[in-house]
Amino acid sequence: MNVLGIETSCDDTGVAVVRDGHEILVNLVASQEDHARFGGVVPEIAARKHVEVLPALLEAALGDAGLDLSDLDGIAVTRGPGLIGALLAGWCFGRGVAEARGLPYVGVHHLAAHVHGALMPAIGEARPIAYPLMALVVSGGHTALYRVTGNAGFLPVGKTRDDAAGEAYDKVSKLLELGYPGGPVIDELAVNGDPQAWDLPRSDLGLDFTFSGLKSAVRRAAIEASIEPGDPANQRILDLVASFQAAVIDMLAATTERALNRFTSRGLVLCGGVAANRSLRARFESLASRRNMPLYVSPPRLATDNGAMIAGAGYRRLAAGDRDPLDLAARATWPLGS
Ligand code: KG4
Ligand code: ZN
Repeated sequence: MNVLGIETSCDDTGVAVVRDGHEILVNLVASQEDHARFGGVVPEIAARKHVEVLPALLEAALGDAGLDLSDLDGIAVTRGPGLIGALLAGWCFGRGVAEARGLPYVGVHHLAAHVHGALMPAIGEARPIAYPLMALVVSGGHTALYRVTGNAGFLPVGKTRDDAAGEAYDKVSKLLELGYPGGPVIDELAVNGDPQAWDLPRSDLGLDFTFSGLKSAVRRAAIEASIEPGDPANQRILDLVASFQAAVIDMLAATTERALNRFTSRGLVLCGGVAANRSLRARFESLASRRNMPLYVSPPRLATDNGAMIAGAGYRRLAAGDRDPLDLAARATWPLGS
């Protein structure tokens, strides 16, 4: 079954075709450059750009895969959570195509899709997955832990009380004028910095997260050390971003470890845009191997927002003959597991 996946919850337009929930035939992502000069996503610009880009991106995706609209068997679209204008762009486009072609159509939870993206390689290789899993979803909009039971059940375990981890990366990068999005920039720069140069705070909220204190500590450190922003060659900046990243990873790993101590888990999932981070992946690999459990981590191109994870996550319902009514609404807020 060929499922078209459409993702527009934030600033990436994703269009993909996935066969049988795991075989990616094409996965195109158009990242909007327009937000860089603002150092963060401008919702209205994001929505308008999605509307502009979607038709051509669909055409390009079908062309790349050597497919025609008649080769599609269903459509999965991100229903939420996300920026409502951005969501509506994909939601209306996807339903329009579904209606025009008489195809079944389902709305997908963005975070459930991130988790599915991490599981796709295992599903593709027919590796059995033992549940329950402990999943850390760590992105620009979300930082949360879930217990994943079989049958796509999600139980919330903990979440951030303020910023998401990716948001903290983006804000620190903005503060130091290093570029947007901050995650990949800091991932790159931190390699050449000393992660112990600054003793930044690691908060402990049990199973919840907080990143605002760390963000303020970075700001204070930059002021106290009279750091001139905007120079990625400055060793003090490299040390500061390396120290920041070390604190983020320590907090993510420590909180996940507390959750693993609390709840029986037969595997660990790391997904969401920040899961593309090399040091974070390495830390979770050692965490999982120390606890003797499999780690399911999104391949980098399935970590950040994309249409393949949406198509993959929508497949099961479509294959079961499920479809959503055309008057269903997109949801800006939509707690996973509710
Ligand atoms: O999942 P995603 O594409 O969008 C949301 O659903 O939020 O995540 C985007 C976030 C951004 O904050 C970006 O800075 C961060 O993921 N990110 C990274 C890396 N690549 C993307 N953070 C750390 N290291 C990376 N390599
Ligand atoms: Zn995302």
